Amino acid sequence: MFETLQAAPPDAILGLITEHKNDPRPQKIDLGVGVFRTAEGETPVLDVVKQAEQRIIDTQDSKAYIGTAGDPQFNASMQALTFGDSVDADRVATIQAPGGSGSLRVAASLILRARPNATVWVSDPTWGNHVPLLGGAGLTLEPYPYYDTDAHVLRLDAMLESLAALPRGDLVLLHACCHNPSGMDPSEDEWRAIADVIVERELVPFVDMAYQGFAHSLNDDAFIVRHLAERVPEMLVCNSCSKNFGLYRDRVGSLSFLAADKTARDIVYSQVNSIVRTIYSVPPDHGAVVVATILNDKELKAAWRVELAEMRGRLREMRVLLNDALKEKAPDHDFSHLVRARGMFCFLGITQDQVNRLKKDYGVYMVGSSRINTAGITAHNVEYLAESIAATL
Ligand SMILES: Cc1ncc(COP(=O)(O)O)c(C=O)c1O
Repeated sequence: MFETLQAAPPDAILGLITEHKNDPRPQKIDLGVGVFRTAEGETPVLDVVKQAEQRIIDTQDSKAYIGTAGDPQFNASMQALTFGDSVDADRVATIQAPGGSGSLRVAASLILRARPNATVWVSDPTWGNHVPLLGGAGLTLEPYPYYDTDAHVLRLDAMLESLAALPRGDLVLLHACCHNPSGMDPSEDEWRAIADVIVERELVPFVDMAYQGFAHSLNDDAFIVRHLAERVPEMLVCNSCSKNFGLYRDRVGSLSFLAADKTARDIVYSQVNSIVRTIYSVPPDHGAVVVATILNDKELKAAWRVELAEMRGRLREMRVLLNDALKEKAPDHDFSHLVRARGMFCFLGITQDQVNRLKKDYGVYMVGSSRINTAGITAHNVEYLAESIAATL
């Protein structure tokens, strides 16, 4: 039967990783792959994760299956981290999922069961895997205006206008913070205006929070989730612990849903668990127990907050450093949007041709849209990076 198949198109980012790896130039720079890096260019296991893992090794006495919903302590902790005290506990439930991607996939099936004809509106642009992942699961997706790639600003008016014209009951996928790929988030006032339209049009918010703690703080970054939770009858929230706990390969995430009342919540919960059973049966345990251990220990939680603040600070510092270096090397060009962006990603704002030249002539790797991962910048490579960018302008 396999003769019916043709090779799938290569994944743009994975291809970039291989090309970068095989590039013999010592000064090469990887701004493509989406993981945090230290000033030494490493993606280490967080200290606090190592400590939690040691405790788990010492005390865990079974690897028997956990249920479809995963670890109850993890779920309660993620719910608190996500919603704070903004929500009536009877109306919300949380399940563990294999990463943010796994939670998006379960959410997609839930939407298809509940409202099969709804359209999910996604920001233009959005994370490169949103459309394949959610569309592949069977959802109908359409874009709403979000970011002006020339002016490097949000298209707030166009976004509000577009949302105000959507059919009632459609879903709107929002990035809670650190919008991937643009790095541009609405301000709190702008979020309030977006929430007003969602409430007025009776749209269902579907929030993806993959970078909580990477923009401002754990609480500030959850602003739109908590604001909406106080105002809407129903919503979905997908969390990823890949970035903020550095647990990428352990596949840790959660899916929370808010329902109109406890009865509806319990029905949704049963449906979500039956969906999980038909996809991966039970989620992976290890990383979720690590997160639960950290979030339920005062000292470990405090230590995690410090490590998270360090990661956030480094991203911020590298944006400033690159903007400063570009001011010097390319004084006729404005890159100040780099400093206005939040989280790991933003667009440099150069053409595909310039991206290609940066790769070919200078060994500087980024995806074709000129999205860069700021974690790939260091105090050592920033000068060379700015010179290379300036040379292609
Ligand atoms: C916006 C967004 N959502 C979800 C994810 C999924 O993360 P993971 O499945 O690795 O937890 C990512 C990862 O890059 C992301 O950027």
